[in-house]
Amino acid sequence: MRVIVEADAEGVSRTAARFVAELVRRQPDCVLGLATGSTPLGLYAELIRLHRQEGLDFARVVTFNLDEYVGLAATHPQSYRSFMQRHLFDHVNLDPRHTHVPDGRALDFEAHCGQYERLILEAGGIDLQVLGIGGDGHIAFNEPGSSLGSRTRLKTLAPETIRDNARFFGGEEAVPRLAVTMGVGTILESRRCLLLATGEAKAGAIRDCIEGPVTAQVTASALQLHRDVAAIVDEPAAGLLARREYYRHVEQAQRLLQSGGLRTVGPTIDHE
Ligand code: GLP
Repeated sequence: MRVIVEADAEGVSRTAARFVAELVRRQPDCVLGLATGSTPLGLYAELIRLHRQEGLDFARVVTFNLDEYVGLAATHPQSYRSFMQRHLFDHVNLDPRHTHVPDGRALDFEAHCGQYERLILEAGGIDLQVLGIGGDGHIAFNEPGSSLGSRTRLKTLAPETIRDNARFFGGEEAVPRLAVTMGVGTILESRRCLLLATGEAKAGAIRDCIEGPVTAQVTASALQLHRDVAAIVDEPAAGLLARREYYRHVEQAQRLLQSGGLRTVGPTIDHE
């Protein structure tokens, strides 16, 4: 796993936006996997800026969001659909028909989840999946204990997640208990993953995800099995990483290599 440590949250957003923008420019019909939560907000703001100021074109881009709360209508202010509209979709030239968020009010969730998986496949699979991380190390809503082979399905939220998200609902009581979420297996099929984390509160989850054992108790740790993951974290989120200096060293070597200042004996270094 590539680990990029930035000084602050702004640096995380800028670097993440560079990955996304580079893909959108190279492959204008790419498929992006998107995440909600406060962590990717800076990334979305930067993508809106690139769209407005540098003409970054989303006309042919297709998006799939990771998850949605069960029971909330798309128009509910705390639904992930309305979050995405507010923070990205309404401000760039994405075709509304190309944006997908699971339906929290589906009549038949089993059928809906199966269809979501099929739509991803029909779109050609996800080229780049943006991920945040929960305080308990979850990705999307794959709470501790989720199968590392899981697919899109209903999931019961963990008490810690309900507590973490209570701030958006004005109290724990109002937080939905269930969500529709892509599975860990679904996420691992993306061609590339960008894991973003900022702030000291994520330091434990980031340590467990990057340097801990691969375990269903920390579903983000499954990313260690993926061949193309970049974890982009700020200093506070990197605070508990034992190999922090080594990751920095690798990034310096990468930069030198790219600028032609370093020769290697093999064809590539540290891409995976
Ligand atoms: C929720 C979302 C996750 C997100 C997590 C962290 O659980 N389902 O996709 O990564 O919150 O959110 P935040 O970025 O606000 O810390």
